[in-house]
Amino acid sequence: MDIWQTAPINMYDTRITGSTNDYSKTANSDVVVITSGLPRKPGMSRDDLISTNAGIVKGVTKSLLEYSPNAIFIIVSNPLDVMTYCAYLTAKVDSRKVFGMAGVLDTARYRAFLATELNCSPKDIQAVLMGGHGDTMVPLPRYTTVAGIPVTELVGKERLDEIIERTKKGGGEIVNLLGTSAWYAPGASAAQMVEAIVRDQKRIFPVCAWLQGEYGLKDIYLGVPVKLGKNGIEQIIELKLNAEEKKLLEESAKSVKEVMAVLDTMNNSAVAK
Ligand code: 2OP
Repeated sequence: MDIWQTAPINMYDTRITGSTNDYSKTANSDVVVITSGLPRKPGMSRDDLISTNAGIVKGVTKSLLEYSPNAIFIIVSNPLDVMTYCAYLTAKVDSRKVFGMAGVLDTARYRAFLATELNCSPKDIQAVLMGGHGDTMVPLPRYTTVAGIPVTELVGKERLDEIIERTKKGGGEIVNLLGTSAWYAPGASAAQMVEAIVRDQKRIFPVCAWLQGEYGLKDIYLGVPVKLGKNGIEQIIELKLNAEEKKLLEESAKSVKEVMAVLDTMNNSAVAK
């Protein structure tokens, strides 16, 4: 209601409806964004949220699907890669229609830090980042440019490494300042993905996607560059990674797989019960 009441001031006519637990109001959605779940508190890792948030994401996914069987699902709940996997297992729909928001946010943090460092417009910084939404994420300086200029020509290696480290822990830095999870940048990131889908923009974003052999990885949700359009993920883009980048991506995949296995074990024991 608060957001809707800004419409006459901000001059937009998108209709905004709020609802608590009445999923019929979401009927026939084209895109749904699931942010439900506990946020992190200082000192917690995203993985600490797994059991509570898996139950929530499962329930929300089921209820949404009942009313919008053709929707595209964007997951934001943490631990992100594993909650996306959880929604996929629950929804049992084409994996191109179930993916997670993380890379847009993580590259935004990386790009913002670089813009501060170079005192230049964040608009001019383009970057790719891959891997899980956690401390093992893999920013790729080789694929980072400032208006087409390789970032490695503008920022020294040592400083770039510090910025990469700060990016990896960027979510935690804000949790420590706010006492809870960030919301503006995550919200803006999800909105940018929704816009790419509803306007069929074919934008290229890093997105947490289901991999079936891409990058030599199988049966895993992990951040990779994709093309987003009206059909959801329309292409997974396979970059040529060098040996060091590949190693970092594999390490990140390994840590995501470990948390996925925790979910699998929880699901199996739930079935056994
Ligand atoms: C973050 O990194 C919410 O996981 C999200 O801030």
